[in-house]
Amino acid sequence: EGSLDAIARRSGRRFGSAINWNAGTNGGSIQNPLYTRIINAECSLVVPENELKWQWTRPAPDTYDFTRMDAIAAWARANGKGLRGHTLLWHRPRWFPDWLNNYDYGANPVQEAERMLVDHIRTVTDRYRGQITSYDVVNEAIDHDTNRTIETSMSRAMGSPEAVIDLAFHVAREQLPDGELVYNDYMSWEPAHLAHCNDVLRLLEGMKARGVPCDALGIQSHIEMFAIDPATGVGPYLEREWRRFCDEVVGMGYKLMITEFDVKDKALPGAIPERDAKIADFTRRYFDVMLDYSELTDILAWGMVDRFSWLQGFAPRDDGLEVRACPYSSEYAAKPMREAIASSLMSA
Ligand code: G3I
Repeated sequence: EGSLDAIARRSGRRFGSAINWNAGTNGGSIQNPLYTRIINAECSLVVPENELKWQWTRPAPDTYDFTRMDAIAAWARANGKGLRGHTLLWHRPRWFPDWLNNYDYGANPVQEAERMLVDHIRTVTDRYRGQITSYDVVNEAIDHDTNRTIETSMSRAMGSPEAVIDLAFHVAREQLPDGELVYNDYMSWEPAHLAHCNDVLRLLEGMKARGVPCDALGIQSHIEMFAIDPATGVGPYLEREWRRFCDEVVGMGYKLMITEFDVKDKALPGAIPERDAKIADFTRRYFDVMLDYSELTDILAWGMVDRFSWLQGFAPRDDGLEVRACPYSSEYAAKPMREAIASSLMSA
């Protein structure tokens, strides 16, 4: 049958996962041999979960620290893995370094903000030139509560969030004429925030109209079981609204990528075999929909092993049980979710 990557390649796609740097062996990390064994077995592509973000690479306005990212890049090279760049700009004050939120842009704020952003993108893309050719240039620029593009210290200095976003893509294109430039977002699956999809469509439309060089939409795919209709077990949202959304995106000429797949299982009752079966079923339905699009290229999981999933900390279950978000269990065993991905890829 083969690895997830081998199966993905039959339809011209690649399979990969997030990985991180950690001081110890107890993480979804390049230093954990049990974790890297799974990555090596299933993936041809990795992406740093955190290590390329400004918070990690840019401790001060004119200081860079690539220690951790370099370790990941070296691991990827030594193990023959492709490497994606996440992200050149996470457009949210919450994920800006503190110094950047409080930055004094001085007497020429436009110029200074542009200098800051351009320098960052050039420094990163130069450093990993030849190794990273696909970047999440901008990550999550829309507030799902207000439905507006987010303001940051940088957008206020430059005049608008769009000015920042456009500049980021233009500089990335200058740096990587043949690179793959991605706008990455989560398109909230929460019923209250489904309008987020329309906001993303408007942003993508605007970028097209302004001639902004963006090649693909990164669909994070932190998918939620909300989308399942309890009566039929089928996701009406998935089959209708979600397909319509993807149709519109590819209709504008964008490619698609699954950049951060995992499943939030908060809403599912406790017993593990039933949970795993439902999660696998939903995974299969989701992949079946996504794999209908020839425009879908790479597929990345946001971690391969439950224990190291960000969801354990960020979206824990009310019953205190472990979240079962990933293709492999905390004991490093393949779960039904893994088989669901494999089987969907097989029929793609
Ligand atoms: O490494 C430090 C550790 O030294 C410290 O003791 C600890 C105390 O909080 O924090 C550790 O850093 C944390 C880091 O994850 C590594 O575990 C940060 O606080 C925490 O904020 C960070 O969360 C990451 C989050 O993005 C914010 O950057 C998650 O791991 C990561 O999975 C998540 O990934 C995002 C994507 O980038 C964008 N899409 C959504 C996705 C999930 O939120």
